[in-house]
Amino acid sequence: MSDPQRLASLFQRYRERLDLTKAQLAQRAGVSASFVTYIEKGQRRPSLEMLTRLMQALDLTASEKRELLRAAGYQPTEELMPRLGDITELLRDLPLPEREELTEEFFRLISRWRELRRKRVRRAVIPIAGWQPRLLSPEQLGKMLRPALEETALAGLSEVVLVLAPGKAVPTLKLPRGLKVRTVVQEPQLGLGHAILTTQGAVGDEPFAVILPDDILLGEGRQCLRQMLALYEEYRCSVLAVTGVEGAADFKNYGIAQLGKPLRENVYLVKELREKPTTGRHTGLTIVGRYVLTPQIFEALQATTPDKNNELQLTDALNLLSRRQRIGAFVYTEKLFRVTPIKILLEQLIETLDESQPERLEQAMQITRKALQELTAL
Ligand code: G1P
Repeated sequence: MSDPQRLASLFQRYRERLDLTKAQLAQRAGVSASFVTYIEKGQRRPSLEMLTRLMQALDLTASEKRELLRAAGYQPTEELMPRLGDITELLRDLPLPEREELTEEFFRLISRWRELRRKRVRRAVIPIAGWQPRLLSPEQLGKMLRPALEETALAGLSEVVLVLAPGKAVPTLKLPRGLKVRTVVQEPQLGLGHAILTTQGAVGDEPFAVILPDDILLGEGRQCLRQMLALYEEYRCSVLAVTGVEGAADFKNYGIAQLGKPLRENVYLVKELREKPTTGRHTGLTIVGRYVLTPQIFEALQATTPDKNNELQLTDALNLLSRRQRIGAFVYTEKLFRVTPIKILLEQLIETLDESQPERLEQAMQITRKALQELTAL
């Protein structure tokens, strides 16, 4: 809302401070003297372009400019953002050759803007169409997603793309300020790679982040995605997070990374990735569910062969992509809580089923119960 009286009095004060008559100020700003009179009588609201010119002629400080803009009914940030209407008005006043020249310049700016936008990461894809999230109610899912949403906001991203299972209600979300949500539905359940492929229309030709919410990063670890985005900005390549694991037990449940040349402390080039290998030597590093991906991942996913369970693996697509583009690995060293998939818990339980050892059975039941409690308490 503009406040013409306040605008008029501020305006007059600033003009008189410079000892300028209305006509002198008008001349300095390249406007008519009657225009200045109208403003000072509170009878005219200047366009943003006019006001900008007048503010320059009045030699104002940044805070004085903000005050004047507000009194004229403009958001102070608008000063930095000419509106399309102002530009058109400006162009219309110019002789044809200059108008042509500026119009060309304007279109060059627009395509530069598009290019910049294409290169900036704005979105995080969060897949929740797998077996675990299907077991949860919208409220429970909402709770489970809270840390992932906070991480997204901490990383400065503005949109989340949720991948939902068909027929599943949108989770009850408490969204951090400034974060928008879009949803896509993954029709057949064909693995993480397929879930990512489903978001191609929503993501377009832009880099994007992926958060797998069952890997929960704690404490300083919540900055992981933000740090990975800084790496993307610097190296302009996909980046994934990896973490060191002791013992071989976990390797068949995660993606495994073999790293190459170091780029800097805790950052390496990826040499090879393997998804849940059952044989071979383990490298000591598993993939954590945080990725920043270039849009070429979509072509790589399309070219990837499904695994033996007919699932499309993101890890396999990344391996394929690494032949065309370098991929960075960020070694995550902070606290990590991994929600163990129920399938694995059941496997562990079944392995220990032995009637001759009832105490081991009880122990396995306890582990399962505890894990389920942790899962639903998130
Ligand atoms: C996915 C990835 C795997 C990664 C894991 C991290 O597996 O495919 O490479 O190590 O997330 O949580 P999923 O949990 O979907 O089986």
